[in-house]
Amino acid sequence: MSQLNPDDFIITRKRKKYRFALFANSSLCYEFDEWDKSWPADVIEVGAGTGQFLVELASRHSDRRYVAIDVKGDRLQKGAREAEARGIKNVLFVRARADQLAELFQANSLSQIWLTFSDPFPKKRSSGRRLTHPGFLDTYRSLLRAGGRLSIKHDNLDFFHWTLEQLVAEGWQIDELSFDLHESQVDEDYKVLTPYEYRWLGEGSKINFVDCRAPQSS
Ligand SMILES: C[S@@+](CC[C@H](N)C(=O)[O-])C[C@H]1O[C@@H](n2cnc3c(N)ncnc32)[C@H](O)[C@@H]1O
Repeated sequence: MSQLNPDDFIITRKRKKYRFALFANSSLCYEFDEWDKSWPADVIEVGAGTGQFLVELASRHSDRRYVAIDVKGDRLQKGAREAEARGIKNVLFVRARADQLAELFQANSLSQIWLTFSDPFPKKRSSGRRLTHPGFLDTYRSLLRAGGRLSIKHDNLDFFHWTLEQLVAEGWQIDELSFDLHESQVDEDYKVLTPYEYRWLGEGSKINFVDCRAPQSS
């Protein structure tokens, strides 16, 4: 068995601390309790990782305001630094959990919610943690404005099929569905790669994609 070098741990922890400091020092990054709910967000990504997917979308649509949300500030700071370096000002980064979304945004305010390569939580007993669980779908429905869209990309077919079942059972209207996004005819924006997507495509996986609208309240 190979030996682990204790110095590596020290360096790793220092790096992580350093990345958290970069998050804290960036004017584009917010802790949950620093965030101003009245900021007029249009598009959000939940479980955004580095948030680089939204940075690219923000660079293409300067008239839309984007918010990347993740529990991990050391990841988000990477997207924030890229946005700063590229002079992109219409994307912000919030360290928060998905179950806090209703405290971050006004009801009926968002035009689009992105979920990309969400953790699949394959064990049945953990299904409540999947970001496409009906409890989360209810929150997304309350935050989306009329005609707003939930857009989902994933490599894992089991997770994707389960997600489609939840969407259908909860009455979401499916507008676009593809089991091979990069061979499909959908808008080029949808094909912007997230870091995980880049990795899975490189390994030969196909990307599943669904774009849908919330059920109308009666
Ligand atoms: C597999 S990564 C995908 C990252 C990014 N979307 C991408 O495609 O490159 C999943 C991300 O979701 C975040 N995450 C998982 N559960 C979350 C939750 N309940 N609230 C916020 N973020 C969450 C994790 O911290 C992780 O960064």
